[in-house]
Amino acid sequence: MIFFKAMSIFGILADAIMMGEKVKLDIDFVREQFPQSNEDYVYCSNAGGSFVARQVLEILEDFNRYKRIQPYSPFSPSREGGELMDRARGLWADALNIKEDELTFGPSTSSNSYVMAQAIGPTLTKQDEIVVCQQDHEANHGAWRRAGERSGATVREWRLLPETGLLDTADLYELLNEKTRWVFFPHCSNLVGTTNPVRDIIEEIRNRCDAFVGVDGVAHVPHHVPDLKALDCDLYLFSLYKVFGPHQGVLYVRSSVGDKLVAQSHHFLTKEPTKRFNPAGPQHAEVAACAGVLDYFRSFMAHHNIVEHDSFNHALQEVRRLFAIHEKKLATPILEFLRQSSKVQLLGKPHCEDGDRAPTIAFRPLKQASEQVTRKMNMLGIGAEHGDFYAGRVLKGMSIDPSDGVVRISLVHYNTEDEVNTIVAGLDRTLAG
Ligand SMILES: Cc1ncc(COP(=O)(O)O)c(C=O)c1O
Repeated sequence: MIFFKAMSIFGILADAIMMGEKVKLDIDFVREQFPQSNEDYVYCSNAGGSFVARQVLEILEDFNRYKRIQPYSPFSPSREGGELMDRARGLWADALNIKEDELTFGPSTSSNSYVMAQAIGPTLTKQDEIVVCQQDHEANHGAWRRAGERSGATVREWRLLPETGLLDTADLYELLNEKTRWVFFPHCSNLVGTTNPVRDIIEEIRNRCDAFVGVDGVAHVPHHVPDLKALDCDLYLFSLYKVFGPHQGVLYVRSSVGDKLVAQSHHFLTKEPTKRFNPAGPQHAEVAACAGVLDYFRSFMAHHNIVEHDSFNHALQEVRRLFAIHEKKLATPILEFLRQSSKVQLLGKPHCEDGDRAPTIAFRPLKQASEQVTRKMNMLGIGAEHGDFYAGRVLKGMSIDPSDGVVRISLVHYNTEDEVNTIVAGLDRTLAG
């Protein structure tokens, strides 16, 4: 754990030295790629759904105008539609460093996890155990819990630390034993904002038992496209509508694991890995438009002189470095303000120093309702949100009433330092009275 932290600090420092001075994220270029962005209000609800990149909108427009017929027939609009859908699959498999047939596009992460719970549930027995995590959004908790309970398996819960909402990995390791079949936890919580050291955790799980591991990457991927082979998880889920893309969920199932689960498709599609876990037909235009996110990243790379030497995923790590440096600049003044305020309880770490905090910042106002604070912020042109964000288990674990919930300010790389100044001034004014 200490080693991991030291590596993270070293990594961020090295990033700053190597890239911070030389290549800085060009915010003007970035904003030009998002036609929705404007100067009239501060958009800071990104963890709920991001702006859509120009490249994505172009594919959607082209597909819906010219190719919206059943794809994959030999005549041209249909053939081209199918080719665009295949292109999206190929690009995302490459980006995530997985095989194409390990990737399913589905309507959302919640529906993908629901489907996977039907696929996993019948493989569990009364003798088995699964571990779910209190830090998760309901999408990566309830479905697994129900599947476990229905099959009679024992469901254990990895609890968070009530003061901060952070996780202690030692608590997880105590829950594991030879009966553990699956462990589910988040890459990053949509409220606590901390990036959990997934690779290290999985390594430790593998040392202790034979369990499969499922990770919710929804709050992480907007900041960093991971190398799933390197992470070594068996199941990984995220939502592209929070990663500058169309409303699609991406589901990775390691092929050797998927083969052991119960198919959820029409009976004649069960042998097709990319359809096995999608009971619906694919949303053709939206699937094709998933490629637009990576087209955006590629144009970001070209603009910032990031060269694709060996793999696409490696180049995406460079994109991530620039995002991380910029996002740290965005998060720090807000965290600093909230840390010093006696009028709030901040969730998660009060700083970005360890390189493991997303600029997803939630707090509970101590003297006003979250709803009231958010309304005042909205009147100042600041698009903050409040509620439980479907992560009521996190709030309950921290003794926070989920019905009023917390205020959340969630930023991504297209937010600006000027916007952050507006947010801090708005917080100051709002929390004062
Ligand atoms: C961390 C996290 N996981 C899962 C989900 C569910 O994603 P979807 O809306 O695609 O079902 C969300 C949605 O906000 C989320 O923030």
